[in-house]
Amino acid sequence: MCGIVGYIGARRPVPILIEGLKRLEYRGYDSAGVATMNGNDSLFVCKRSGRVRDLEHALPANTPPANVGIAHTRWATHGPPTDTNSHPHLSTDERIAVVHNGIIENHSSLRTMLMSEGVTSRSDTDTEVVPHLIARFYDGDLQAAVKQALRLIQGTYGMVAMSIDEPDRLVVARNGSPIVLGVGDNEMFVASDAPALIAHTRQVVYLEDGEVAVLEAQGFQTTDLADRAINKEVDELDWEIEQIALGDFEHFMLKEIHEQPRSIQRGLRGRALPEFGDAKLGGLNLDRRAFFDIGRICLIACGTSLHAAMAASYLIEELARVPCSVEIASELRYRNPIVDANTLYFAVSQSGETADTLAAMREIRRKGGIVLGVINVVGSTIARESDGGIYIRSGPEIAVASTKAFTSQLLALTLFAIKIGRMRDLSAEAGRGLLRALQEIPEQIELLLEDQSEQLKALSESISEAPYVLFLGRGGNFPAALEGALKLKEVSYIQCEGFAAAEMKHGPIALIGERTPVIFISPKDHLHEKTLSSMEEVKARGGRVIAICNPGDDLVRELADDIIEVPVTHNMLTPFLSVVPLQMIAYYTALHLDRDVDKPRNLAKSVTVE
Ligand code: F6R
Repeated sequence: MCGIVGYIGARRPVPILIEGLKRLEYRGYDSAGVATMNGNDSLFVCKRSGRVRDLEHALPANTPPANVGIAHTRWATHGPPTDTNSHPHLSTDERIAVVHNGIIENHSSLRTMLMSEGVTSRSDTDTEVVPHLIARFYDGDLQAAVKQALRLIQGTYGMVAMSIDEPDRLVVARNGSPIVLGVGDNEMFVASDAPALIAHTRQVVYLEDGEVAVLEAQGFQTTDLADRAINKEVDELDWEIEQIALGDFEHFMLKEIHEQPRSIQRGLRGRALPEFGDAKLGGLNLDRRAFFDIGRICLIACGTSLHAAMAASYLIEELARVPCSVEIASELRYRNPIVDANTLYFAVSQSGETADTLAAMREIRRKGGIVLGVINVVGSTIARESDGGIYIRSGPEIAVASTKAFTSQLLALTLFAIKIGRMRDLSAEAGRGLLRALQEIPEQIELLLEDQSEQLKALSESISEAPYVLFLGRGGNFPAALEGALKLKEVSYIQCEGFAAAEMKHGPIALIGERTPVIFISPKDHLHEKTLSSMEEVKARGGRVIAICNPGDDLVRELADDIIEVPVTHNMLTPFLSVVPLQMIAYYTALHLDRDVDKPRNLAKSVTVE
């Protein structure tokens, strides 16, 4: 959360910084700011509450000449989104500027100490103590002062500092909040996330916790807090600029929903072994024998990734016949988890940076557990710290509401379920059937989007008038129902809840009044008849039944007020298809309500704070 961009080189920094901030706006978008310098005796600073475009409008037509600068787009934690609370924050003498992601946990005691020394506090933020602390230690060496300040700081940070007295460098540090350096031709970049860099360079360096880098136009050097030099490898980004551009779509959310056929194809490529009804997953780092010892599987995640993990847990248990539990990362990390040698853990995360998932993973590993990642962002912290894993290959996800990651995570874990299943009870024929069905899913999603978009748009108009909406499903479609509810509430702000359909009668049925929309996921599977009974119960109470069902399902057709048809697939794979219309309903409902679809209120992508 929050985005950082920094530049040092021969070009004018402001356009580079603003463009970078726009690419990172999904990380936080309630205020933004920029600071530049060129060796004169003052910093140029401009900060605004609101979006990056508000900052852009506030900038003078001719910003002072400069060759180094830092910028930030904020998701407020400490203090409301005001101009003053925006980053960069400055030292009292305004010679040092800092942008920071993360949380300084001991900011209160540090502020008291600094104020007793005569420092005046100007903002409500935790970050403000950082430039004051650096100034306290500054004696002509910014790197040394940053390190001294960091020794007093408890909490998480990805930060960039600059000083007017050292106009040829930026000092960057990381602990718990991602930082990536971009290596250019006689210019260097720094950002919290790679999309800010792609337009300029593909050569990147990921900082690890405890590392400090000094950037000059000609290059960088990295040390730890004890001043030991660290050699860093330069990686190559494999994202294309088109992947982070809107193209012909009105919103990233819509673009990413439509990308699912291709992201699923990418996730399958080279991994399906149809001849053997098996799957090949190169990065698991488990030897063949280790598979026999797996006694339990535990999936750890948050939000949409949690729902994908829940949907996958049904597949894993069914195909592999291994008990599979799903844990909310934020709960697990503080529960003193019982880790045993025969449990295989997965941290499931699109960004690979979610603070709770990362902390839970670290706790499990500290206790000796093996944790694999199911991750989208290559080189992210979870990807690097896990014992191995599966990249989901869904490509950059820019919309704050996650869509294509859900289906790609489910795919990765389905392939894993097939793989482990094939070493146990799953026959080659059964494996082949699943792989055939998986290979059809991209085309089925394409058809679904082609055939149903207009109907979903019209349906969403009526949903947009409802005060609340219920989502019900069973089996793997129970997590799909949870995901439908999460998606709709996130982008439309309508109150929504998802339940296992049969749970409705244990309480939620009290919510159903005249015309309350209840969205049922009801494919023709072994639970079909049971779901029909729940539909009857809703109808009997005047609710409006909207059913996601297979074509030609006359029983549902008779009961439902509206039906959305999804193609028939393997019984175990129905969530891949049922989630797509739910994503579209969320999107169109938000449009009808004139919401900012890609930047819903109060949210930001990649939750790197607790
Ligand atoms: C919902 C959403 C969030 C994320 C959650 C986990 O649309 O985007 O619920 O799914 O914050 O994020 P990752 O997958 O990056 O760990």
